[in-house]
Amino acid sequence: MSKKILILPGDGIGPEITAEAVKILNACREAGLDAELEEGLVGGAGYDAVGHPLPESTLEKAKAADAILLGAVGGPKWDTLEDLSKRPEKGLLGLRKNLNLFGNLRPALLYPQLAEASTLKPEVVSGLDIMIVRELTGGIYFGQPRGIEERDVEHGKERVGYNTYVYSESEIERIGRVAFEMAQKRGKKLCSVDKANVLEVTILWREVMNRLASEYPDVELSHMYVDNAAMQLVRAPKQFDVVVTGNMFGDILSDAAAMLTGSIGMLPSASLNEKQQGMYEPCHGSAPDIAGQGLANPLATILSVAMMLRYSLGESSLAERIERAVGKVLDQGLRTADIAYPGTRQVSTREMGDAVLAAFAES
Ligand code: NAD
Ligand code: IPM
Ligand code: MN
Repeated sequence: MSKKILILPGDGIGPEITAEAVKILNACREAGLDAELEEGLVGGAGYDAVGHPLPESTLEKAKAADAILLGAVGGPKWDTLEDLSKRPEKGLLGLRKNLNLFGNLRPALLYPQLAEASTLKPEVVSGLDIMIVRELTGGIYFGQPRGIEERDVEHGKERVGYNTYVYSESEIERIGRVAFEMAQKRGKKLCSVDKANVLEVTILWREVMNRLASEYPDVELSHMYVDNAAMQLVRAPKQFDVVVTGNMFGDILSDAAAMLTGSIGMLPSASLNEKQQGMYEPCHGSAPDIAGQGLANPLATILSVAMMLRYSLGESSLAERIERAVGKVLDQGLRTADIAYPGTRQVSTREMGDAVLAAFAES
């Protein structure tokens, strides 16, 4: 039966990068992928059109889809919206929560051609291949209670902002299993990142990870505090194979890991639920500073299409063809501004997309 793919371009550079990824998806359809594409509104685009960052029609289409490709949401235009539930980011968080997309895979893989593009020394990053497994539907992002309110404090009344960092054992266990299974398929090393020296929630996190380890004797489990992990990622990133962590730490560490690959514009992601239904998006945001100028790197979005084919559509060979096409274009020396350096040829978002398309068609 034909698969349903929902395209949600979103805001800022979202539409530009998504357009390039859709070209590749269409090429996959020509190459035999049986899929129908639909489009929807999300984020600021949803708010502007119908007053909500996650319009009901979008949520319905998302639930019915086998896979979703999302560009990015957010931007200064909506940052001052008083009603926090209407902010673009709530559209994205609502999709993740409603579809139960708790397992977020963020692979930081350095294409050898980009060793010079990283701000780190080539010998520190060459051969880098890390998989960050981020819990995506719990933790401090969703914990209750949360809010900003006036409270009595020692010297009178004051506004207080608060959030709750909470994980249940079952939430920790299910993301732990995703990570252990991922480690089994890769280098069999799993590092769980927490703040168990301070936070009870992560004392429980560590306890559950240790318990699970006995079920995966072939995987070597280690633990690291998040502050040290941030430092180690920059000092000696190749010590990591699979990293598992909570929602907020995973958000922060994956942006740091992105720079090891040359640019945040290179890091794709998959967000999966128990049925392998998935949402695929670059890890970066809507990049308002470069939107509309043809400067955005579309490769993270194109590589997210490859992840979609692999994880939700059962088409690993098409996924590999896309990844090879990206490698070929980098071999040709083509670079968007974020990964350009002397001796390479700077191209626009569209030129990069077209080059990947041509390389894909030839393969
Ligand atoms: P950002 O990731 O949008 O941008 C950070 C920096 O990286 C900017 O200098 C930007 O130009 C650059 N950059 C990002 N993607 C790039 C690409 N593909 N090619 C070249 N350069 C790229 O982060 P920010 O500036 O902190 O956030 C901007 C907006 O995006 C905010 O509204 C934020 O909430 C939102 N955001 C959305 C997502 C998402 O939709 N998944 C993720 C992160 C941030
Ligand atoms: C990401 C983004 C989102 C997050 C925001 C936009 C809600 O930063 O996907 O990494 O924090 O998860
Ligand atoms: Mn982020």
